[in-house]
Amino acid sequence: MSGDSLHILVFPWLAFGHMLPFLELSKSLAKRGHRITYISTPRNIQRLRQFQPNLSPLIHFLSIPLPSVEHLPETAESTRDVPSEKVQYLKKAFDGLEAPVSAFFKSACADKSSRPDWVIMDFAHHWVPKIAEEYHVPCTFFSVLISPSLVFMGPCSELLGGYRTSVENFTVPPKWVPFPSNVAYRLHEARGFLGVFDRNASGITDIERLASVVNASKFVCSRSCHNLESKWLSLLSKLYEKEVMPIGYLPPSIDKSQSEKSSKAAGELDVMDWLDQQPVESVLYIAFGSEACLSIELIHELALGIEVSKVRFLWAFRKPKGISDDTRILPEGFEERTRDIGIVTAWVPQMKVLAHASVGGFLTHCGWSSIVENFQFGHPLVLLPIFIDQGLNARMLEDKNIAVAIPRDEETGDFSREDVAKVFRIVMEEEKGKEIRHNAKLLKKVFMDLASYENHIDEFVEKLKKFKLDV
Ligand SMILES: *[C@@H]1O[C@H](CO)[C@@H](O)[C@H](O)[C@H]1NC(C)=O
Ligand SMILES: *[C@@H]1O[C@H](CO)[C@@H](O)[C@H](O)[C@H]1NC(C)=O
Ligand SMILES: *[C@@H]1O[C@H](CO)[C@@H](O)[C@H](O)[C@H]1NC(C)=O
Repeated sequence: MSGDSLHILVFPWLAFGHMLPFLELSKSLAKRGHRITYISTPRNIQRLRQFQPNLSPLIHFLSIPLPSVEHLPETAESTRDVPSEKVQYLKKAFDGLEAPVSAFFKSACADKSSRPDWVIMDFAHHWVPKIAEEYHVPCTFFSVLISPSLVFMGPCSELLGGYRTSVENFTVPPKWVPFPSNVAYRLHEARGFLGVFDRNASGITDIERLASVVNASKFVCSRSCHNLESKWLSLLSKLYEKEVMPIGYLPPSIDKSQSEKSSKAAGELDVMDWLDQQPVESVLYIAFGSEACLSIELIHELALGIEVSKVRFLWAFRKPKGISDDTRILPEGFEERTRDIGIVTAWVPQMKVLAHASVGGFLTHCGWSSIVENFQFGHPLVLLPIFIDQGLNARMLEDKNIAVAIPRDEETGDFSREDVAKVFRIVMEEEKGKEIRHNAKLLKKVFMDLASYENHIDEFVEKLKKFKLDV
């Protein structure tokens, strides 16, 4: 291996919202001449390769079969493959990778030319630091959650038994946030969040996993940017008592959208043709990502809200997991009644849709990957967060005055069609939303600052090299 280049193990959690940013990071590192061993399971690797056919030869996939675990379907390898109540079995199976990963370290470290210089790991990897330490390989935790969410969760001491003992305690900003902030859960979101304190099938909570990878990292890195999060990043570094490096938002590269284009199914309604016929910035794009789902009742309310609003829409609609194919989910007659203003379709090339001149807004579940994609084009947002960090992301976006959240019942999370319609019109049409639309366009500059992204990665690489010298 040439003098200056590093061999880096990259090991994401088994969810596409993690695997894809870890792959983007791998690409940025490979572009700089560093060798990557990307660890995952066979089907996930196969799917990643399909998304991204032209990867650098410096990225090598290490495929380790997932051990079978009772209650986990044989073919399930990612959170996309299981309903949320089964993710606990996926975590248990994931923990079963400890022995094969340890064996890999043993053989890789036996030879100087294959020895890894670093492991970049994810939140779930509580058993990785022990192995890495045995072989003297430094670790860093790469967080796909942005810094405000990590700050909200708190320092390790807090994660492992803190002052927040009731669900209400998660509905206000924590005591260690010294500046004004709205980043906290709503009551209905906080209840869902408390799942991270459950032991369940794997015997270890998500929060214990997180604490252990933070604690074991030489430094922590996150999918964050100085531009938008600087005060959060410095606070997080204080809380963790170690350096926290933002490595940029890692916007998806062209490769992915190209393969999306080629995979359009024959006979599928041509979404792009339809968009071509709509007025400029008139269409609200609606999508909830690959895992988040609403209850059928709320899907109905949302659909009826769309009807009431009369705003043009393109709805990328997925059936909630675990619902049989012949169950009707949209309200009776919805598609016919809205034929003139919108379409519902199972799958769309998201980046291409967001890039289209007819699209003027985005109703999102607030997954950070979707937000990053959106602000390549600067659309204002309608916010309907569903789980994990999404509620916290939504508060952060509202604070920036580029988005409007659909008002919801604090207890149940329910919302009404009238409120849906009201918010749609503000964001898409009314004078009241002008400033929001304007601010969203401005934010595009921040998200499209590619030079700044490159700088973030350069600094990150310098950091990795420095530790290599220190070891
Ligand atoms: C936590 O919640 C309980 C019950 O709502 C409340 O009495 C207490 O003051 C809260 N503590 C903090 C620190 O917010
Ligand atoms: C534990 O199981 C409960 C019930 O199935 C679920 O709601 C919760 O999210 C699970 N927690 C984890 C960390 O998987
Ligand atoms: C943190 O790391 C230290 C040494 O690296 C270890 O002794 C300690 O047990 C760890 N604490 C937690 C909570 O993982």
